[in-house]
Amino acid sequence: MTIEKKFIDQFVNVTSKAAVASYKFIGKKDKIAADKAAVDSMRNELNRLNINGKIVIGEGELDEAPMLYIGEKVGTGSGPDVDIAVDPLEGTNFAANNLPGALSVIAISEKNNLFHAPETYMEKISAKVGEKGVIDLDYSIKENIFNLSEHLNKKPENISACVMDRPRHKKIIAELNKLGVKIKLITDGDVSGALLVVDDKYGVDIFLGIGGGPEGVLAAAALDAYNCSFQGRFLFNTENDKERANKMGITNLTKKYELNEIVKGDSIFCATGITSGELVSGIKLENDEFISETLVTHKNSGEKKIIKKIINR
Ligand code: FBP
Repeated sequence: MTIEKKFIDQFVNVTSKAAVASYKFIGKKDKIAADKAAVDSMRNELNRLNINGKIVIGEGELDEAPMLYIGEKVGTGSGPDVDIAVDPLEGTNFAANNLPGALSVIAISEKNNLFHAPETYMEKISAKVGEKGVIDLDYSIKENIFNLSEHLNKKPENISACVMDRPRHKKIIAELNKLGVKIKLITDGDVSGALLVVDDKYGVDIFLGIGGGPEGVLAAAALDAYNCSFQGRFLFNTENDKERANKMGITNLTKKYELNEIVKGDSIFCATGITSGELVSGIKLENDEFISETLVTHKNSGEKKIIKKIINR
């Protein structure tokens, strides 16, 4: 089955409007307001679409998020059954401080084809290789870099690795440094980070480290449209995390997920820039109109492009 191409434009509209809503709060030092604006807009727009949608990755579970919570039904109810993962504002710090890289992100699959992920951390790895076995969460950093170096025919010192700047990554960063790898440290935004491997123009060969589980699922949905690899392993650290995982039907708590266990079948991914970043430009206000830029992928048609859209005030 395929998700009809007509939905691409509709979902670009959803993330573009959420981006515009959040744009009004950029640099206002209020990440909660910036996030709420994006969430409200995204929910309103999703509810106008002729889909029978279910949020599988959202703002949290029902008890902690009144809107776009995991399990919430969205859409008019007449139309295809789809699973939806949302991050209406990815990079709340970026938006609040008017820094590059804030995005509004959505991924859609056919029903039951997108992983239902709880809000926990995930160990992730993505790379510019389609073949299995070159990179793996179970390999050491050295093995991953050496394999990639051989595969890409580049010396380790010419390999570039993107890692989030967090104390938990001290060991990874030290090992990469010892191997002479070019390290690109990012302060936030690991949906983008994991996607920088999709094109040589971003100068990143491998992304690795621990970030949000929902962000991992969203990145996997986009990577599925490229000839790239991704693996993720959820980290259920507390008893509460474990309980929530069990409730969602996850029994093997240490499982390493391959890309196609996270997203199956056809899917659409849209990421609209709120502030300008490496993947897309942010919202621009020109002649009383907002211009948005969205990175879109559609698995079945193989479409991967940037769409510009005018959003009236
Ligand atoms: P928010 O948009 O929710 O602030 O998330 C930003 C982010 O950097 C994600 O991209 C990443 O997955 C997560 O935070 C990492 O979490 P932490 O800041 O706890 O390391």
